[in-house]
Amino acid sequence: IIPQRLLGKTVVITAGPTVEAIDPVRYLSNHSSGKMGFALARACVEAGAEVILIAGGKVALPTPLGVTRIDVLSAQEMLIVAQQCVAGTHNVLQFKEEAHDHNHHHEHDHGDCGCNDDNHDDHAKVSTEDGSLVADIFISTAAVADYRTEEAAPQKIKKTQDIMTLNLIKNPDILATISHAHPELFVVGFAAETQDVEHYARGKLVAKDLDMIACNDVSRADIGFASDNNAMQVFFAEYYQQDMVTLDKASKDDIAKQLTAIIGETLLQ
Ligand code: C5P
Repeated sequence: IIPQRLLGKTVVITAGPTVEAIDPVRYLSNHSSGKMGFALARACVEAGAEVILIAGGKVALPTPLGVTRIDVLSAQEMLIVAQQCVAGTHNVLQFKEEAHDHNHHHEHDHGDCGCNDDNHDDHAKVSTEDGSLVADIFISTAAVADYRTEEAAPQKIKKTQDIMTLNLIKNPDILATISHAHPELFVVGFAAETQDVEHYARGKLVAKDLDMIACNDVSRADIGFASDNNAMQVFFAEYYQQDMVTLDKASKDDIAKQLTAIIGETLLQ
């Protein structure tokens, strides 16, 4: 039996890669599978939370039962949807109903709103009295592309040039933007490092103003990214009792349950 430590809490999770268009048929992305974020979504539901999962790119995983899923493509889209979900201005109920019914995902194809129904008012019964959802916890597992193309070409680019140059510009930091905008939100970041794990993780904890950061060593071939297993070191902001926790190699589902328990305990401090 899983303790209902997150009962009454709303959790927003980003997961998977982002996809940055080059032209209508090509894109820049990465190998993130989304498994860690989806496992966390499942664990948070089991712990009693209301969970909104924002999946980037083309995550090919089934939506965990009871989770409200919103699919996005690019980092910019993910930022807008995450801001709306956290602040309670995104109407997500329809996704939730469909996720329950069919357990499949939906294209996010309506620009800023993420809604594919014209009649928004029909869905205005989310979880708080005024019909809005305001998050308590934001967990950022997404592997957001650091750069996007300056401008996606409107038509397919032809192979006429021998050397072709793409101008890339930096994407917004979704985690830092949300964290800085909502000091009261409990914010959990992830980091994948190949060296000086603790040094870089603690740097991000402070720079992005996080409550917790979970860090895996991606120089190890047996864990992380597309793997089903993970092992982590978790670092906490200085105002919490514990400083660091090590989670030994285990399945991502198991790691997710442990992380969810740690989030629940840390929230209570
Ligand atoms: O700075 P770095 O990319 O290593 O930070 C990793 C953490 O920041 C992860 O939690 C990731 O989801 C988040 N992030 C983000 N937006 C970005 C880059 C990273 O939300 N543009």
